[in-house]
Amino acid sequence: SRKRQVDETLAPFKLSQEQLQLVKATMRAGLEAGLKNKGPSAVKMLPSYVYHTPDGTERGKYLALDLGGTNFRAMLVKFKKGLQNNTRLYHKIYTVPLEIMQGTGEELFDHLAQYVSDFLDYMGMKKAHLPAGFTFSFPCEQTAIDTGILVSWTKGFKATDCEGHDVVNLLREAIKRRNEYDLDIVAVVNDTVGTMMSCAYEDPQCEVGLIAGTGSNACYMEELKNIEKIRQKKQKTEGDEETPEMCINTEWGGLGDDGSLDDIITPFDAEVDHNSVNSGKQRFEKLTSGMYLGEIVREVLLDLTRGGLLFRGRVTETLKTPGIFQTKYLSQIESDRLALLQVRSILQHLGLNSTCDDSIIVKEVCGAVSRRAAELCGAGMAAVVDKIRENRGLDHLNITVGVDGALYKLHPHFSGVLQETTRVLAPQCNVTFLPSEEGSGKGAALITAVARQKRDR
Ligand code: BG6
Ligand code: GLC
Repeated sequence: SRKRQVDETLAPFKLSQEQLQLVKATMRAGLEAGLKNKGPSAVKMLPSYVYHTPDGTERGKYLALDLGGTNFRAMLVKFKKGLQNNTRLYHKIYTVPLEIMQGTGEELFDHLAQYVSDFLDYMGMKKAHLPAGFTFSFPCEQTAIDTGILVSWTKGFKATDCEGHDVVNLLREAIKRRNEYDLDIVAVVNDTVGTMMSCAYEDPQCEVGLIAGTGSNACYMEELKNIEKIRQKKQKTEGDEETPEMCINTEWGGLGDDGSLDDIITPFDAEVDHNSVNSGKQRFEKLTSGMYLGEIVREVLLDLTRGGLLFRGRVTETLKTPGIFQTKYLSQIESDRLALLQVRSILQHLGLNSTCDDSIIVKEVCGAVSRRAAELCGAGMAAVVDKIRENRGLDHLNITVGVDGALYKLHPHFSGVLQETTRVLAPQCNVTFLPSEEGSGKGAALITAVARQKRDR
């Protein structure tokens, strides 16, 4: 029957408890391998040069610049004396056009410098010469808090002449070319790290950051003695804590780039990878993040349609169009409050004529793909929190994860499945997920505050 055939197509998306345990173990091995000093690894485990979560003594006025998914955000953050939550934020969002994301590096950074110029005008602060933190949500090899060499673009960016270059320098040079305002860029920060810091300002138990958005990634506080790549250069930091730590940007999206996830990768995933701008890379990210879930759904729908199980067997141009299923549509389609008629009207809006039965199947496909994404994220998170627990020699760990990203925030089931999977796979950890309120900008500002205090001492 039609139902049986659809079930068969979706079967590879249904992961067993054993498979998820295996993914957790694979992630754990990936984290360990990345900390070693043995050349490139699938999970990059990048040092952030952030040694502490905030302690509430941060003061001052900072600019936070944030290049994330498709948006660039400029933000002014003020930390004041007094109660902890005494923070003021002003921000503006700019959309980075696709041709700029994929043009030359010089054009991209000139654009960013222009957005900053507009923001400073808007705030009336062109002459202020503010200290700035730069959230740059791509993998960067850091040797200090204010240098970050782009390892490789992810998430559809492919501006030329950026990989292998220090992105702080690229931004400084673009600002210099404008010759119109001055900025003191003090820190470059991954969005996971910014998110963790933002949330840790509210909750001191927050020592992990998670992004489930356009991309997928996590960071956490690791013991310095376990970070072999740093141990070579520098072991002792300032301060006299008993166990010095550093936040590590895992770049877990790269898990599987060495073939370690091949057992769970379906032909639909393979097709999505094949059609992407970074084929063979970011395999875990391509199973778990907003940029790719809609494409996986589309591949499944194409297959079902070709098999005559959907849309009366007619493969339309719309169905062949990459990118039609954005996260917001998946989220709407899966909303339980939505009647099937409304699902049909969303499909209609996307240019897909559906029958009632079609809409049931589409919803099922979306559900299978997004559930697997949340479960895989949960398996990854279980590996991270269990590692922290073992580092500390504890039987039980209470920990908070700061989270951001459209998939986490907009999707009706993702957060619930993530939490449940983490609970089942890391039973010795009590994990609280805390959504970040103001994005990672506040975190970048906090890091900037600390870095500047240290430098000015
Ligand atoms: C934002 C952060 O809040 O979340 C960004 O400030 C980050 O840096 C983003 O990339 C993730 O969200 P999305 O869903 O736009 O990828
Ligand atoms: C991609 C980037 C990573 C970022 C994540 C979430 O995986 O490589 O740096 O944190 O997306 O935005």
